[in-house]
Amino acid sequence: MDRVKTGISGMDEILNGGIPIHRHVAVYGGPGAGKSSFCFEYLYRGVQMGENGIYISLEETPDDFLANMSNAFTGFKDLDKMVKKGSLNIVKPDKLDLETVAELLEESITKNDVKRAVIDSATMIRMSFKDIADYRQTIFEFFSLLRNLDCTALMTVEAPAQDLAATGFEIEHFVMDGIINLYNLGKAETRIKAVEVYKMRGTDHVRDKVPYKITPDGIKVYVGEKVF
Ligand SMILES: Nc1ncnc2c1ncn2[C@@H]1O[C@H](COP(=O)(O)OP(=O)(O)OP(=O)(O)O)[C@@H](O)[C@H]1O
Ligand SMILES: [Mg+2]
Repeated sequence: MDRVKTGISGMDEILNGGIPIHRHVAVYGGPGAGKSSFCFEYLYRGVQMGENGIYISLEETPDDFLANMSNAFTGFKDLDKMVKKGSLNIVKPDKLDLETVAELLEESITKNDVKRAVIDSATMIRMSFKDIADYRQTIFEFFSLLRNLDCTALMTVEAPAQDLAATGFEIEHFVMDGIINLYNLGKAETRIKAVEVYKMRGTDHVRDKVPYKITPDGIKVYVGEKVF
C-alpha cells in the first residue's frame, strides 16, 4: 500500500511508514495541543518532498497564520519562497461552508497539483450550522466527495476535554479514516505534549501515547519513550 510520509520526526515510525494514501485523518486535541503546528509541518515536509499543499484556515488569516508558524518554526527554510511559488498555499475562504471548501480543494488539486490538504478546523464549520443533523449529513457528503480526490487530507477537530473517550465521539471520528490525538498533559508543575494514533484504517500502528515536543526545527516525536 502506498503511504504518505508525514515527514514529522518519529511520526512515520508510529504510523508504520506513514498515512495510507488518499485516507483522511482527524487531528484532534484541546487548545494549544499543537494541532495547527502538526498540520503545518505535514504540508511543509510535503513540499520538501515535492508535493504541493493547501492549508485551508477557517479562523486565522493567511498572513497571521504564516507569521505564527514562522515564529514557532524558525528553522524551516524557504517558507516565504514556497508560499510565493504556490507550492505551499494558505487560504482563508470568505464563506464558512463545506461547499466552498470542497470547491477550493478540487480547484487546487486539478490546477495546482496539490497532494496534501489541511482543513483547520472542522469545529469552525460545525459552529456555522444551526442544526447538528444538517452538519452530520453535510460532513458525511463532504468526505464521500473527498474520497474521489487525489489528495491526503488532515482536518483539525477541537476537543472540549482532554480524553477522547470521555467527550463522546463526534461525527468526524466516524466518517474519517484515521484519528490522531494530541494532548497537553499535566505532569508535576509542567505540561508535556503527547501524540497518539487512535485509529488508522488500513494499517497497524503504535497504540501508546508518545511524548512530543515542538522545536524550532519541527515537531519531534520521541518514539519508545513513555509519557509518565
Ligand atoms: N517555538 C515553540 N517552541 C515550543 N512550543 C511552542 C512554540 N511555539 C508554539 N509552541 C506551543 O505550541 C502551542 C500552539 O500550538 P498550535 O497553535 O499548533 O496548537 P492548536 O492545537 O492548533 O491550538 P488552538 O486550539 O489554539 O488552535 C502553544 O500553545 C505552545 O505551547
Ligand atoms: Mg490551531
